Amino acid sequence: MAEFNIALIPGDGIGPEIVGGAVTVLDAVSKKYGHKFNYTEVYMGGCAIDKYGEPLPQETVDICKKSDSVLLGAVGGPKWDNAPVRPEKGLLGIRKALELYSNLRPSILKPQLKDASPLKDEKLKNGLNVMVVRELTGGIYFGERKTASDGSWASDEEKYSVEEVKRIGKIAFETAMLRDKRVVSVDKANVLDSSKLWRKTMIELSKDYPEVELTHMYVDNAAMQLAINPAQFDVIVTSNIFGDILSDLSSAIAGSIGMLPSASLGATKCGMYEPIHGSAPDIAGMDIANPIATIVSAAMMLEMSFGLVEEAKAINSAVDKVLDMNYRTTDIMSDGMTKVGCAEMARLIAENI
Ligand code: IPM
Ligand code: MG
Repeated sequence: MAEFNIALIPGDGIGPEIVGGAVTVLDAVSKKYGHKFNYTEVYMGGCAIDKYGEPLPQETVDICKKSDSVLLGAVGGPKWDNAPVRPEKGLLGIRKALELYSNLRPSILKPQLKDASPLKDEKLKNGLNVMVVRELTGGIYFGERKTASDGSWASDEEKYSVEEVKRIGKIAFETAMLRDKRVVSVDKANVLDSSKLWRKTMIELSKDYPEVELTHMYVDNAAMQLAINPAQFDVIVTSNIFGDILSDLSSAIAGSIGMLPSASLGATKCGMYEPIHGSAPDIAGMDIANPIATIVSAAMMLEMSFGLVEEAKAINSAVDKVLDMNYRTTDIMSDGMTKVGCAEMARLIAENI
């Protein structure tokens, strides 16, 4: 029996529905295992712009910092396209404020969802089980931005220090040690100085992990390799922007972006957990979103921040059970399956804990 304080950031669009679904499942876990989860809901993104005039109120940062972990839905939407500060700024701000420099994005092809993958069966015969380790608080996302006063040019700076590359590299190697011990470092070292430094640092660091095989790929080739032979990858480590792009690709190959979780971690145990998909404003409030990505993000939180390994497994098995019972949300629907909404999917998973 243990007690944990969880900051909830439902955010915008489908955020409140999917976070609600995750809470339904967490409540079932707390009931079964006798843990106490205390939730504090805070505002971030577009809803925070509406309420406080800024996407990341200080109160949100303070509450997140005091919590054992943060569970996030999604932020953003067309409503704030012309806002002076965009909702996404809140997301980048909280990543920076909590120093969450490493972003783990696993993509696993579940046998039940093979039909939902855009790849042909032949390309999937060896499966897909890749962990994208994305650097999250550096690179072009946080480099200097400039726009000429007359609007005739704009620039964004991609900059990495050896220290930044080393700390994300360590996470990748340590992650690989618990998996198949293979790291592919993705860069654009044939063009970019920042990538040359990235590659050199990874090679240097690999000497501390003699059991792990390190190889390198240019990002364009990595995208192609993911599409033609996804099974070849174990751990991919890469920069903020390349990781953003490649993790969308790897998740699509796994069937649906609505299935995949992520963990953002830093120096402390307090992490932030969120689905890798966005706020899907077009289907917000319709109870048709897939809550599974958020539910399995909560499972990652239990395991990685709280050390509740068995409880995390219980969530993942419950998800598998419900898929085996042929329940599907719209995004992963196929012939012969039973279509359910967001709340019902969460309820079914909770029931199977
Ligand atoms: C993600 C998202 C964010 C990112 C956006 C919403 C700022 O695409 O988490 O992958 O680019 O990091
Ligand atoms: Mg993204």
